[in-house]
Amino acid sequence: ATHPARGHVDSATPVAIERAADLLRAGDIVGMPTETVYGLAADALNPLAVRKIFAAKGRPADHPLIVHLPDVSHLPQWAAAIPKDVIALANAFWPGPLTLILKREAGVPDEVTGGQDTVGVRVPAHPVALQLLRQFGSGIAAPSANRFGRISPTTAAHVQEELGERVAVILDGGACEVGIESTILDFSRNQPEILRPGAITADDIARVIGRRPRVRGEDQASPVQHDAHPSGDAPRVSGALAAHYAPSTPLQLFAATQLVEQAAVLAGEGSRVAVLAHSVASPDDARLIWRQAPADPVAYAHDLYANLRALDALGADFILIEDLPGIPAWRAIADRLGRAAVGSGADQDET
Ligand code: TXA
Ligand code: MG
Repeated sequence: ATHPARGHVDSATPVAIERAADLLRAGDIVGMPTETVYGLAADALNPLAVRKIFAAKGRPADHPLIVHLPDVSHLPQWAAAIPKDVIALANAFWPGPLTLILKREAGVPDEVTGGQDTVGVRVPAHPVALQLLRQFGSGIAAPSANRFGRISPTTAAHVQEELGERVAVILDGGACEVGIESTILDFSRNQPEILRPGAITADDIARVIGRRPRVRGEDQASPVQHDAHPSGDAPRVSGALAAHYAPSTPLQLFAATQLVEQAAVLAGEGSRVAVLAHSVASPDDARLIWRQAPADPVAYAHDLYANLRALDALGADFILIEDLPGIPAWRAIADRLGRAAVGSGADQDET
């Protein structure tokens, strides 16, 4: 059979998935759909393959990767200490958008863990990811399939835009259902802590383990922590860097009451202004490029990164986004937009 050209988007037929598993076994990297965002996949036990991920993303080597597993029975090969609560969480949320940080097993390569004594693991819910994992039969290391610091991809076409021929093939699994990255729950210390908010909330977790995990940044006055390195010297969670998920167009958030006025002021100064609103209606001002986002947080998250990409592609001078409600259902989205705002406006190569 002829192999598709490098960087090709391949419909995820059983044959294509088998071919992708072979490419992983051969030490190559492939684009893989998950229910959250697309991942850049490599054999997690092959240090040379894992290094290709960092090279393709332009990501610093000390940033650890999530290991994706076919099912919970693989967990003991990767995690050394598995508390009862972790099994309960896995049973409740896997396959699904919850990443657990646990003490690592000795055999997990340093390339995957960033040299730390912990490993991040999850079982993704996308049928194509699960078929690939079953075919492959072992852990797949996969960060989001974007260049470092940029907007995560939620379609196969996004992955191709980001990485092109750096990947062997991209399996097309359609638009990602969730649309933002998994919740990361650190279970490697005394007290569980959410390091990155996602579709699974602190309250969802509390219902399973009977106590509410701490949430990084929640005690702060602002819901989003904007320190350059919120967790200390070495960034343990690159998605927690202040500047992340960022378009190259300067992006600012405004309260609903100020959105239209701010947009009009900038347009009046001769700037090209693009707006993303979810409750404010278009003011019928022809100078503005208006994009209406869903008013419901689940649908908003699903469309978020495609909307940011579309707005960024307009070549506008500013992107203005309507601020989000300060309630738990919007928390993960507010987190991503806060970081997108901090990281925006930089050149592709500077982030
Ligand atoms: O939804 C997702 O989680 C997607 C899909 C592809 O699974 N993956 C993803 O990977 O978002 P990535 O690498 O873009 O973000 C994972 C985050 C990184 O910020 C990384 O630093 C953190 O997880 N992480 C991974 N292992 C860790 C560990 N042992 N300790 C602390 N943070 C860890
Ligand atoms: Mg990422």
